[in-house]
Amino acid sequence: MFNPYFLVAFLYVALAVLGALDASLVNFEVLPFFAGLRWMRVHFITLGVLTEIAFGILPLLAAVRSGSPRPKTRWDIWLLLNLGLLILLIGIPPINVVLITTGGTLIFIAATLLILQLGAMRSETAGAASASGRKFYIVGLAYLLLGILVGTGLWQGWSTWLQIRVPLEVHIHANNWGFMSLLFAGLLVDLYPHFAGRSLAWPRAVTPIFWMMTLGALGLVLGPWFQSNLFSVPGLILHLSATIWLLASVIKPLLGGSKLWTPGMLHLITAYIWILAPVIIAPLIILEVPGFPGAGIEQNAPQALIYGWVLQFGYAILPLLFRRVFVANTPDRLGGNWFSLIAVHLGGTLLWAGIFIADSQPVLHGLAYGLWFVSLIPIVYELWQIVRSGIHRAEDHLATVAEASD
Ligand code: HEM
Repeated sequence: MFNPYFLVAFLYVALAVLGALDASLVNFEVLPFFAGLRWMRVHFITLGVLTEIAFGILPLLAAVRSGSPRPKTRWDIWLLLNLGLLILLIGIPPINVVLITTGGTLIFIAATLLILQLGAMRSETAGAASASGRKFYIVGLAYLLLGILVGTGLWQGWSTWLQIRVPLEVHIHANNWGFMSLLFAGLLVDLYPHFAGRSLAWPRAVTPIFWMMTLGALGLVLGPWFQSNLFSVPGLILHLSATIWLLASVIKPLLGGSKLWTPGMLHLITAYIWILAPVIIAPLIILEVPGFPGAGIEQNAPQALIYGWVLQFGYAILPLLFRRVFVANTPDRLGGNWFSLIAVHLGGTLLWAGIFIADSQPVLHGLAYGLWFVSLIPIVYELWQIVRSGIHRAEDHLATVAEASD
């Protein structure tokens, strides 16, 4: 089967490698002239890799869970998403308002069409519906719509019109706590039984976890919107409790066995440490503790979250999904190895160390991005092997068909 989203996502993974290398060299002052890559570094990963993969896999997963026939590739959605992305890549560096609005609008329409496609795949049986990831995907994508709206208008004053107090934070929260968190939770619900070989500890907890995450994300979006902890604090408590419940549900069935201690499983679970880091520190920022580098955290924490959590979750889940798409009939196996696991965590630790030890920040951040760069190499190699073997198989198949028709 050919899935065009996965080929594009592979391209962006390769670009993410270059983005990390660039950041490392910029910090070491080897490459000062490339320093404008900041927006791209984050969005190669979030939009280019994870969003791309989500668009490619969610209709397939939802169809399997609902017993619907396998959906055909929606080329309209693929084109809208990728045109939008390309236009943003051209429009963001020079802050060209027309291009940014066009790119954001195209991605917004693509996400809306995907929501409609998933919405139409209702489950045949109520039982299957309760344990499926579909509702996580739909609500996650709705948060993406909000994130796109705020992100597209960030440099155009839309937030004044929308009365948003801290727009960048609303953008990040809608995308991370809303879109990414719900997407990852849905993927865990749908895929865990396959790669772990058992069901989640408490399958009935899936519905309360869904509601807690959905409402938690809403609080975390409304918090910076109105600059009020009356929304942020309950939102954070709800969201975090749901995340911990979900992770406990993932870990408990594996206790005592060897499956927990594989690099792939550890990538998946320990990625969440990097969500907890800013959360633990947040009260100190809110209380404005003297001497605490609040500005440094706001400047750098998003990058740690994207590399430590979003990308690392991808280290485990991308090779599994790529194998499903490119190499039929192979067992579900998570990606990564001990080297990528250690390197990605060391990178996160050094990035945070650099925030607190201001004098050594360039060196520590240079090392952090350098470690993230090397941690990506085994993953890209693994993905490349899978893509290559899929293409070989497709070529062999075509050759056989051609021979048979001669
Ligand atoms: C059409 C979609 C999107 C648009 C137009 C957009 C736009 C933007 C803009 C203009 C910024 C500000 C950059 C700066 O201040 O230098 C930004 C930052 C950010 N965005 Fe997006 N974005 C989009 C999608 C996403 C998605 C899907 C995610 C995550 C899941 C995301 C996560 C972030 C993060 C973490 C930052 C902060 C980066 C940093 O501080 O280094 N964005 N985005």
